[in-house]
Amino acid sequence: MKTVSLDGAVVPFAEGQTVMECALAANISIPHLCFLPGFLPHGSCRLCTVKIDGRLASACTQPAMAGQHVEIDTEELRQVRLSLLRMLFVEGNHYCPACEKSGSCRLQKAAYDEGMLDLHYRPWYPKRKMDASHPDVLIDRDRCIFCELCVKASRDVDGKNIFGISGRGIDTHLVVNSKSGLLADTDISAQDRAVEVCPVGAILVKGRGFEIPIGKRLYD
Ligand code: FES
Repeated sequence: MKTVSLDGAVVPFAEGQTVMECALAANISIPHLCFLPGFLPHGSCRLCTVKIDGRLASACTQPAMAGQHVEIDTEELRQVRLSLLRMLFVEGNHYCPACEKSGSCRLQKAAYDEGMLDLHYRPWYPKRKMDASHPDVLIDRDRCIFCELCVKASRDVDGKNIFGISGRGIDTHLVVNSKSGLLADTDISAQDRAVEVCPVGAILVKGRGFEIPIGKRLYD
């Protein structure tokens, strides 16, 4: 069987697996945000950056190849991840203590895991429109990290194709595929996979904020 070296551990992989998939199968942790098993990798957050044979690459998109030497847990890579996380935080409005997703947010968890203690960069304070038009589901666009998981889940799992990403740079934003552009004019439901997969507090089910007590939340 073909193998790769992950921080010195010799790990077998199946043809077609990515470095991330073979690490997960071997119980070796590589930080990630926009990747979720079961969905095609998007490669946008770059949090899964590793060094493969001396070159930086995203583990979720890089195919595993025999004899690869992959570095994961090094000081250099920890600093890269810290910078990437800080940039993700300043590009949006992520006030964790006041966010309903606090304790269950993958961005917040990643920041704790990487020991992030400050923003370092100047915040952008984006002002993207909220969408509270739907009775059960809310969009806070300023918390979106553009991972496209909701886009894929709505299209490929829910069969509704409700979400898309539009714009560039600071104008990038989540769009809703309805005539009015509002969630109220879609057939989204609070049970949709597209709502569940949001790793941050950008797509939320209404009426559930702070429902789970501190200490019992997903990542507490
Ligand atoms: Fe690989 Fe986001 S998890 S680029």
